[in-house]
Amino acid sequence: MKRAGILDWLREDDPARLASLYGEADRVRRQRVGDAVHLRGLVEISSHCVRSCAYCGLRAPNRIERYRMTADEIIECAHEAVRLGYGTVVLQAGEDPELTRDWVAALVTRIKRETPLAVTLSLGERTDADLAAWRRAGADRYLVRFETSDPALFRAIHPRHPARSRDRMEMLRALKRMGYEAGSGVMIGIPGQSWESLAGDIEWFARLDLDMIGVGPWIAHPATPLGVAPRAPRGQVPNSEEMVYKVIALARLARPDANIPSTTALATVNRRDGYELGLMRGANVVMPNLTPPQYRALYQIYPDKVCVQESARQCFGSLAGRIRSIGRVPGRGPGGRGSELVPSCL
Ligand code: 5AD
Repeated sequence: MKRAGILDWLREDDPARLASLYGEADRVRRQRVGDAVHLRGLVEISSHCVRSCAYCGLRAPNRIERYRMTADEIIECAHEAVRLGYGTVVLQAGEDPELTRDWVAALVTRIKRETPLAVTLSLGERTDADLAAWRRAGADRYLVRFETSDPALFRAIHPRHPARSRDRMEMLRALKRMGYEAGSGVMIGIPGQSWESLAGDIEWFARLDLDMIGVGPWIAHPATPLGVAPRAPRGQVPNSEEMVYKVIALARLARPDANIPSTTALATVNRRDGYELGLMRGANVVMPNLTPPQYRALYQIYPDKVCVQESARQCFGSLAGRIRSIGRVPGRGPGGRGSELVPSCL
C-alpha cells in the first residue's frame, strides 16, 4: 500500500469503511498465520534503566523502588511458562548495564538447556557484540521498538546516552543479519506524532521485513515530561483505541506473515475486550505477564497496567478463555515466523 493509501486509512473514521479494513486484516491474518494465538510469557527481569525516555515511568531520573531478578528467579519463571503451555519466554528490562553480556548469555544458555522454550530478549539498545553473544547462546528473537520513524521526534523523546545510544533501524538490520527474528513497533499518539510520520512508521515495518510488530497507545505517565506537557493541538495523532486497531490492521496488511501481538497497553485502555478486538483486527499473539507478583507493580512504564494484581495462572486462565470465546485456539510450540505453514495435524 502506498503512503497516500495508508494515510487515508489512518484518517478514516467512517465505521463501515473501517469494518472493511478490519475484515481484510482478519482475512489476511487467518490465511497467512492461522487461527492459533501464540502466548509469550513476559518476564520483566529488571526495572533499572540508564535512559531518560520522555514517556516512560522507569526513566533513570525517577526515584522509584527498583528491582533486578536473580538468575534462579528468572529460570523459575521459565519453568512456569512451560507448565502453563507457553512456547516462548520474553525477557524484558529497562536498559540495565548490570545485565552484562556474559550474565545474559549464561541465562539464555540455561533456559535453552532446561526448557524447550523459544527465548525472546528485549533489553534495549545493546552493542552488536552483546547481541551476537546472546544469539550464540541460543536467543531466538529480539524486540526493540523504534517508537517513531520521525528522526526529530525520536531525538526529542529519547535523550542520547553518550556511551550507549545507537540507531534502532540499524540495530534491527543487524539483528536480522545475525539470524534473530526481529521485532519492533511504535507507540500511537505520542505528543508530537504527525499522521505523515505514523504512515511512515508502517512503511518501515515492511522495509525492515519485521518478524514481529507490536503497537500500542501512548499512555500519559504523570511522572514523565510527556505526561505533564500540554498536548500538541494541531496535526496530532490521537492516542485512541480506534487508532491502535487501525495500525494493527495496517501492520497486518504491510507484513502479512508477521507475528503481531494484541498488546497490554491496548488491553489497558479497553479492559473489557481490547485483547479480543486486537486479535480480531489483525493480531495473533498475546503476551501474558509472568513477572513474579512482588515485582510486577514496580515495573510501571505507564500507569494502571492490566494484570498487575493477578498471578500468572489467573492471567493465563482468563486469556485462554478469551481466546476461545472469539473462535481461536491457544497456540502450541514456539510459534516463530512461518511456523503456521506447518499443518497443525502433523
Ligand atoms: N505508554 C505506552 N507505552 C509505553 N511504553 C513505554 N512507555 C509507555 C507509555 N507511557 C512502551 C514503549 C516501549 C515498550 C516496552 O513500552 O513502546 O518500547
